[in-house]
Amino acid sequence: MSTRPGRVAAVRESGAGRRPAAWWADAVFYQIYPRSFADSNGDGDGDLAGVTSRLDHLVRLGVDALWLSPFYRSPMADGGYDVADPCDVDPRFGTLEDFDALVAAAHERGIRVTVDVVPNHFSEQHPWFGEALQAGPGSPERDRFVFRAGRGPGGDEPPNNWPSVFGGPAWTRVPGAGDAAGRRQWYLHLFAREQPDLNWDNPQVRAEFDRILRFWLDRGVDGFRVDVAHGMAKEPGLPDLDLSVVPGPDAGIVMPARADLRWDRDGLHEYLRGFRRVLDSYPGDRMAVGEAWVPDAERLARYVRPDELNLSFNFELTQASWDAADLRAAIERSLAAMAGVGAPCTWVLANHDVERTATRLGSGATGRARARAAALLQLALPGAAYLYNGDELALPNVDVPDEALRDPSWERSGHADRGRDGERVPMPWSGSAPPYGFSTTPDTWLPMPDGWASLTVAAQRADPASTLHLYRAALRLRHRFRGGPFAWLDAPPGCLAFSRGTVEVLVNAGAGAVPMPAGAVLLASGPLGDGVQGGGVLPPDTTVWTRRAGPRRR
Ligand code: GLC
Repeated sequence: MSTRPGRVAAVRESGAGRRPAAWWADAVFYQIYPRSFADSNGDGDGDLAGVTSRLDHLVRLGVDALWLSPFYRSPMADGGYDVADPCDVDPRFGTLEDFDALVAAAHERGIRVTVDVVPNHFSEQHPWFGEALQAGPGSPERDRFVFRAGRGPGGDEPPNNWPSVFGGPAWTRVPGAGDAAGRRQWYLHLFAREQPDLNWDNPQVRAEFDRILRFWLDRGVDGFRVDVAHGMAKEPGLPDLDLSVVPGPDAGIVMPARADLRWDRDGLHEYLRGFRRVLDSYPGDRMAVGEAWVPDAERLARYVRPDELNLSFNFELTQASWDAADLRAAIERSLAAMAGVGAPCTWVLANHDVERTATRLGSGATGRARARAAALLQLALPGAAYLYNGDELALPNVDVPDEALRDPSWERSGHADRGRDGERVPMPWSGSAPPYGFSTTPDTWLPMPDGWASLTVAAQRADPASTLHLYRAALRLRHRFRGGPFAWLDAPPGCLAFSRGTVEVLVNAGAGAVPMPAGAVLLASGPLGDGVQGGGVLPPDTTVWTRRAGPRRR
C-alpha cells in the first residue's frame, strides 16, 4: 500500500457553500488511455511504466488526479473494457508491481489515482463465462449473466429486439449442442459479443464487485470511474423496445431517449449504494464518478444522491454545439439539477469515446481556437473537471485508415460506424515524425499521423502561445474560483458571461468581435484585438478571464 498524496486539499466549502467539500469536488482529473499514453518497452502499446515515466508532465500541467482507463487482463475486444481478470494487470500494460510503483510515484507528487471499474459486463474470457457455458441452462453459473431462451420455433430468434451499442443484436446464441431438444440459449451483451452482461440481481455478482473495489482500494487507489453505470440494472422481463428511439450506427455514444429500456433503470441505484458503502468504509475521501449516459440532467442527478456516487460525468458539453444559447442552456440545466441533490457538477469536453474537441467544434485553426476557448469555459465552471489526454495539446481526431481500425463498432456495424479510434491515437511527446517519442517503434498500435511536429509536448513546451501553456496557466489560476459563487452576467449577442467570485468569464461563440470586459485580463484563450475606438475587443472563438472590476454588469 502506498502513501497518501502529500498535497491534500483542505476541507473547504463547496460552490453551493452549503456543505464541506472533499478534494474531488473541484478537482481537475486527467484521463489516461494507457494504451496511447507512453510506451516504455517499445512494443507499440502504451503501458503503466510509461505513465510513471511521464508523470512530471502532469505535475507541470497541474492536475489533481488521474483516471486510468482499463489496464486489466483483457483480450482487448473493446480496448480493455472487456475484462477477463479485474484484479490483475494485462501483460501488455505491465504488472501489479508496475501499478504499485505508479500509484506511489503519483502520490509522492501529490497526484491522486483513480481507476476504471467495469460492472456492466465481463469479457467472454472471464472464467465465470466459461463456467456458465459449461454448466448449462438454469444453472447458478448462468445466473451470473443474462441467459434466456430464444423466441420463435426452436428458439432461433433472439429473446427480444434490443440492438447492441456497437451494432447488430444485443444477443448471441451460445455454441454447442443445447438441451435434449437441441435448443440453445442466448446471452445478452449491450456492447460487443465478447462482453456478456452481468446479472446484478445475483448476490455473487454484487459480492464479487465489493471484492474488486476492495482489491484496488487496498492497493491505494483514491477512487473509481464506474463504466456504464446506467446499464447495470435490466428492465424486468426484458421487453422489446420501440426501435424508433434507438440512435443510428453513426450517432456514436449519445444520451438515450427515456423510452430506451436498455438504460437508466431505477434498480441500479441500489447497486451504486453498495459501491458507496465500500468506499465509505475506507479512510481518506475515496470517491467514485459514474459514467451514466441518461436522457437529461434530472435523471443524472439521481446517480449522485447523498448515498450514491460522489460524481457523475456531465456529458452535456460533449453534445452542445458551439453556440452561446446552447452552451448556456446545457450549463443551466446541469447546475440546477445537481444543486437539487447537493452534488457538484462534473464537466467533460472529451474522452476516449467522443470526437476530440478540436475536431468536433470545427476544423483546423477554427477547431483549435474553439477547443481552447471551450477549455477556459470548462475550467471556470463550478465543480470538478475531467481532461482527456491530448486535450492539453488540442489534438485533433485522426482519420485512421480502414485497415488499421480496431474499434469493435467498425466490424459490428458492417463498416457503417468508424468507431472511436480517431480519438485514441497515441500521444505525441517529441520529435518531428511518428512515433513522436511515444514509443521506440513506429509500428504503434494505431498509426500516428504525419504533421504533428508542432503539436508534441516538447514543441508546445517551447512555445509560450501553445495550448499546453494555456492549460498550465488555467490550472494555476483555477484556485481563484474556489468557493467563488457562480452568477450569469449579461453578455453581448453570441456570447456567454458569468462571474465566479472575483473573476469574470466571457466566451465569444459568435461570429464577430465584442468589447472586452472592463477588468484586467487574467488569461485569454487566444490573441485579443483592438477595437475601433481604442478599447480592446474579444475576437470570435475566444474566452477571456478577467479580474472583476468597477460597477458590475448584471
Ligand atoms: C464505456 C466505455 C467505452 C466502452 C463501453 C463498454 O462507455 O467508456 O469505451 O466501449 O463502456 O464497456
